[in-house]
Amino acid sequence: MVGFRYKQAQSVAETDVRAFDGLLKKADEYIKNGSGRGSDFLGWRDIGIRPGDAEHERIKAAAARIRANSDVLLVVGIGGSYLGARAVIEYLKTPYHNQLKNGDPEVYFIGNSFSGREFNAVMSLCEGKRVSVNVISKSGTTTESAVAFRLVKKYMEECYGREEAAKRIFATTDARRGALKSLADKEGYECFVVPDDVGGRFSVLTAVGLLPAEAAGVDTGALLAGAVAERESLFAAGLDNPAYTYAVLRHVMLSRGKKCEVLVSYDPDFRFMGEWYKQLFGESEGKEHKGLFPASVTYSSDLHSLGQFVQEGSPILFETIALPRGSEKDSPRVPFDKENGDGLNFLAGKTFDEINERAMLGTLLAHRDGGTESLIVDFGGRDARSLGELIYFFFIACAASGYMLEVNPFDQPGVEAYKKNMFALLGKPGYEEGKAALEEKIKLI
Ligand code: PA5
Repeated sequence: MVGFRYKQAQSVAETDVRAFDGLLKKADEYIKNGSGRGSDFLGWRDIGIRPGDAEHERIKAAAARIRANSDVLLVVGIGGSYLGARAVIEYLKTPYHNQLKNGDPEVYFIGNSFSGREFNAVMSLCEGKRVSVNVISKSGTTTESAVAFRLVKKYMEECYGREEAAKRIFATTDARRGALKSLADKEGYECFVVPDDVGGRFSVLTAVGLLPAEAAGVDTGALLAGAVAERESLFAAGLDNPAYTYAVLRHVMLSRGKKCEVLVSYDPDFRFMGEWYKQLFGESEGKEHKGLFPASVTYSSDLHSLGQFVQEGSPILFETIALPRGSEKDSPRVPFDKENGDGLNFLAGKTFDEINERAMLGTLLAHRDGGTESLIVDFGGRDARSLGELIYFFFIACAASGYMLEVNPFDQPGVEAYKKNMFALLGKPGYEEGKAALEEKIKLI
């Protein structure tokens, strides 16, 4: 089970925590009874796919086919249709998994920007390799992914012919609606479903995250089992569960004028978990002019860039450290050097992991002395089950924190604003009206 520690935060007393009891109780009711705003998007709460059930077996069978006949899997998707899968793969298989040549297919993520340079670079990595594609879009109409997929489809059909290409393309989308669903049905792609009641940022434990992760060699059964176990533990613990306590502490920090939560990891492989967390909390809470701005850093690298600000800058933030329990296997050990020219013999015999732990503790204390509090979320570490636990912990904390903020944690109305302007400027049919006014405003830029 994931743990949460805040006692090291000097400024927080038990009474500060208890002050949020009423709001927490309401949030708990909303989550458990489905009686709050956005309750038709609570499908993630009960983890629709269970390890080994029919849908999980179908995902595993598709992943096994990809693994058997492909050197590369291209994952086309953006936002919730990409961040979770990438986070899971990078944390469990390292960000260097594509270079490791360990028998797993290379996995590349495209369709998550309009960068033609990035697209070209990834496609050049496919040359001479056997390719499969997983196109993921709940709406089936998201422009970044749809544009990339149009090109990828053409590439696949040129390489394999239309019929064989269709066997290599897997679509994860709505069960009935959307342009991608229609196209997939027409072309005969195998389809996986993003359930109606699961929003993109809560979808990593559906086919959205599971198919790419399983294809990359992740034990998705263990990932799901971890989430299921975490669900049981959190629900059994009632209002005092660690995910709720974390949600409350975020509100204690907000009430003290903090504007930003920084998710800290001391592990570069966790970087995309940080990206995933930013979407989860940012889209869930950042509305009605409320919420903490979610940021993420990787220490100790970022101690050499942002560390100065965290120590002595504007006091707008607090840190939440994602801390794996136990130690890393195969952590390199600093050798003894007779000449000791670099003066490092005081570290001789210590592993990188041991040094990292001391760096973490030293930093936590220094930041606290500088006025920046650090909360700790501790979890099992680098195995699929523990990561499943952590993901579910963040889901519950996010839903509770959003409800305590009295917003709908499951919509994202603000995401539409840029799309409306972009479509008008690009001449999408139906968006003609605002175009002239926008062109006028552009002249002032
Ligand atoms: O969380 C969300 O709902 C969004 O970030 C979506 O995941 C993102 O916009 C991609 O949408 P879609 O899956 O419809 O292509």
